[in-house]
Amino acid sequence: MKPIIVEPHFDKVKADVLVIGVPEHPENVPGWEQLTQDFSSRLPEWIKTGDVKTEFNKIVKMPAIEKRGYNRVLFIGLGMKKDLNEERLRQSFATIGKELIVNKASSVAIWLEPFTNDSMGHPDIAFLAAEGIGLGAYQFENYKTSSNEKDVMIETIQLLSEADMDELKAAFEVGVVHAKAVNDARTLVNMPPNLLTAKGLAEHARKLADSYGFEIDILGKQEMEELGMGAILAVNKGSVEEPQLIVLKYAATEAWEDVIGFVGKGITYDTGGYSLKPKDGMVGMKGDMGGAAAVLGAMQIIGELRPARNVIAVIASTDNMISGEAFKPDDVITSLSGKTIEVLNTDAEGRLVLADAVTYAKQAGANYLIDVATLTGGVIIALGHDKTGALTNNEAFFEEFMEASLETGEFVWRLPLTESDKRRIRKSDMADLNNSPGRDGHMIFGGGFVGEFAEDTPWIHLDIAGTSDAASAHDLGPKGGTGVMVRTLATLVQRMAPEEEA
Ligand code: BES
Ligand code: ZN
Ligand code: ZN
Repeated sequence: MKPIIVEPHFDKVKADVLVIGVPEHPENVPGWEQLTQDFSSRLPEWIKTGDVKTEFNKIVKMPAIEKRGYNRVLFIGLGMKKDLNEERLRQSFATIGKELIVNKASSVAIWLEPFTNDSMGHPDIAFLAAEGIGLGAYQFENYKTSSNEKDVMIETIQLLSEADMDELKAAFEVGVVHAKAVNDARTLVNMPPNLLTAKGLAEHARKLADSYGFEIDILGKQEMEELGMGAILAVNKGSVEEPQLIVLKYAATEAWEDVIGFVGKGITYDTGGYSLKPKDGMVGMKGDMGGAAAVLGAMQIIGELRPARNVIAVIASTDNMISGEAFKPDDVITSLSGKTIEVLNTDAEGRLVLADAVTYAKQAGANYLIDVATLTGGVIIALGHDKTGALTNNEAFFEEFMEASLETGEFVWRLPLTESDKRRIRKSDMADLNNSPGRDGHMIFGGGFVGEFAEDTPWIHLDIAGTSDAASAHDLGPKGGTGVMVRTLATLVQRMAPEEEA
């Protein structure tokens, strides 16, 4: 999306749709009087009668009254101006994005002033407009042969503002980068599992590396065998697809130090293995690589915005299938760390692949670790579909992370990980750990298992099983992959980077 920026004279608008935000008491918005003169002197009356609404997020569409530089006007209610915050505005702009798609509009002009208040200026609105509209307008191109209608893309957003153009453009660009990365992550989650295998994920990572100059290493089965990655290899045993450990390094400084490590679960399909999922629970398991998508999306933002902080991304990818060679409950496997694991449930495969990926990230120099995974159904029972579950071993790191999540509006809630939980994870007659201590509070066992491999490194676990894939349209986009955590992970890196950019 390209911004065109002009001053707010409504006769200079050149777009399919003109967006007018309507807060309570719109007459207090500087320039409102001119707008009513330009558009229609009846606007105040329409607001009074409720034909144009001031209620938050309510949309009213009208054709342009005379021949203008736009064909229709979209009024969106903003409620009380003082209540507007980033989260609300992101939602308003996403609503606008969805509406533009419905109207098959490819260009839109937005007058920024009504969206501002004491804490949010024109550049903030430019950022949120690009991010929100980009997210709201997302569509997954499906594989229907009958559809002959080309999907509409929003090509230009015209910002009507008197503020400094360079500042507006810079803020707008960041919003575009965010939306694009989240949408690419959504697409990865939405892709069918026959078309997106571990090698497909690796291919995507290679494209990112080419675009942004990341160092890339892709380990296949042979390299994993040489290193002794017995955990991911066990999960892969029933598959005809080669497993991939995908490693991207973003080096912001000369020395490879103070490295943030992102670790993603990239199970491209989870049948459950011999602990087979029931048929209804299996549908949708193409999305079991949502953690990998989140990490790749975050790396895309990092590649674009280049914060001054070193980052390593490690993605463990395979599908979890059955065959005569597949791993079984009762197997004992040896992970890359040397720790042995008694397999009690082959459907608890995410923690196994993450175990080796976390150890790899540590060996490659990660000083901080965040693993992201669609790990357990338990987190959905605990927190529902709009909150990501978290565990941590480090208060300060978690606090910083929470600040980032507040900035992006991606809700995260932490669960406890106690010594008695750890004892349950370590309880086995056969090995150092077991991969399935029980179903009571099992989100904690899943994440806690991964924590055994993080050891003393500051670590956060994010269980996105409930948030990564939406069953129906939501505030910021359509049903399907949500791209959750892409923006929060990238924002965290930005926050942890020294002021000066690389
Ligand atoms: N991929 C699933 C978790 C999941 C469930 C993701 C629903 C998205 C939606 C994971 O590998 C799994 O099967 N977990 C088991 C763990 C259990 C066997 C200890 C679960 O949650 O039931
Ligand atoms: Zn599973
Ligand atoms: Zn899984």
